[in-house]
Amino acid sequence: MIDVSKSKVECIDLLCSKERGLKVFVKRDDLIHEEVSGNKWRKLKYNIELCYSRKNEGVLTFGGAFSNHLVATASACKQVGIKAIGFVRGEELSFTSNSTLQRCHDLGMQLVFISRETYRIKNEKAYRESLSLDYPNFHIVEEGGANYYGMIGCQEIMTEVDESIDHVFVSQGTSTTSCGVLLSLNLNQQLHVVPALKGYDSLEEMKVLIGRSRIEQGWADSLMNQVEVLDQYHFGGYGKYTVELLDFISGFYEGIGLKLDPVYTGKAMFGMVNELKKSSYDNSNVLFIHTGGLQGVEGIEKKSGFKFF
Ligand SMILES: Cc1ncc(COP(=O)(O)O)c(C=O)c1O
Repeated sequence: MIDVSKSKVECIDLLCSKERGLKVFVKRDDLIHEEVSGNKWRKLKYNIELCYSRKNEGVLTFGGAFSNHLVATASACKQVGIKAIGFVRGEELSFTSNSTLQRCHDLGMQLVFISRETYRIKNEKAYRESLSLDYPNFHIVEEGGANYYGMIGCQEIMTEVDESIDHVFVSQGTSTTSCGVLLSLNLNQQLHVVPALKGYDSLEEMKVLIGRSRIEQGWADSLMNQVEVLDQYHFGGYGKYTVELLDFISGFYEGIGLKLDPVYTGKAMFGMVNELKKSSYDNSNVLFIHTGGLQGVEGIEKKSGFKFF
C-alpha cells in the first residue's frame, strides 16, 4: 500500500510571520508518492478497499487525455494487484497519443477511448447501468475520484496534523478534498477554499457532497458556516494562468523551496499569501494542504526575476 507517513507537516517562513505571531504550515501530501501523489491516494484509498471487500476485479474510472487521476489509478491498482480500466475522453486517441496515456498503458491499465458525447453522459443512470452490465465485477469510480469514498479518504488528512490549527487553505476542483477536510475540522477551525474554476458554485457543490455523508442536517449547516470561498484566484478559469501566476510560482520556489503547479496549488497558494496579508490572521496558526499536481510540471524552478519577499 501507499505510505502516507511521507506526508509531513512543514513550517514555512513568509510575510514576516515571526513578527506577526503567525505560523504557517504546509501538509506535504505531494510527497506521498511520485504518481499517486497529493489528494490522489486520499481519494483512491477507500475506493480500492471497497474493491477488496466486494471482491471486485478492479477499478473502472474516467479521465481526459492528460489525467493525473488515470495515472494514479493505474499505478495504485498495479501496486495492490488489482485491474484498472480507464475510460478516456476522445475516441481519436490511442495509448501512444501522449506520455500520460502511454504510462497508463505501461502500468497495465486497459484504456477504452470514448467520444466526447458519450463522455458527457458518463454519470447518467442509463449509461452507468450499461457499464455495470459490461463490467459487472468492476468498482466504478467517478472522474477525479470524486465520490463519497474519495471524500472519506480526504477526511484523514487532518488526523495526521498534530499542530493546533486555526485556518486551513486548500485548492478546489470537484470539492471532494475540501469536503473531506471540512468533515474533520473542529468547530473553531475555518476552511478557506480556492476554486481553480471560474464561476464554480463552491458552496452548492460542497453541500451536495457533504449531504452524501448523511450527517445530521444541523451539523451539515454549521459546517458550511466554517467555509470561506476565495473565488477571486482562478486566473481566468480551469487550466488558465497568467504571467503573474507563473512568476509567483517560480518566486515561491526560489524563496521557500516548495514547488507548486499552475492548475491547482499555485492558485491556492497565491490566494493564501494574499489573504494572509490581512492583520486578522496575526497570532494564528495556518495550514496549507499541498494536494500535489506536480507530475509533468517542468521549468518552474527557472529564475523569473519575481521577488517573493
Ligand atoms: C493537484 C490537485 N489539487 C487540487 C485538486 C482539487 O481537488 P478536488 O477535486 O478534490 O476539489 C485536484 C483535483 O483532483 C488536484 O489534482
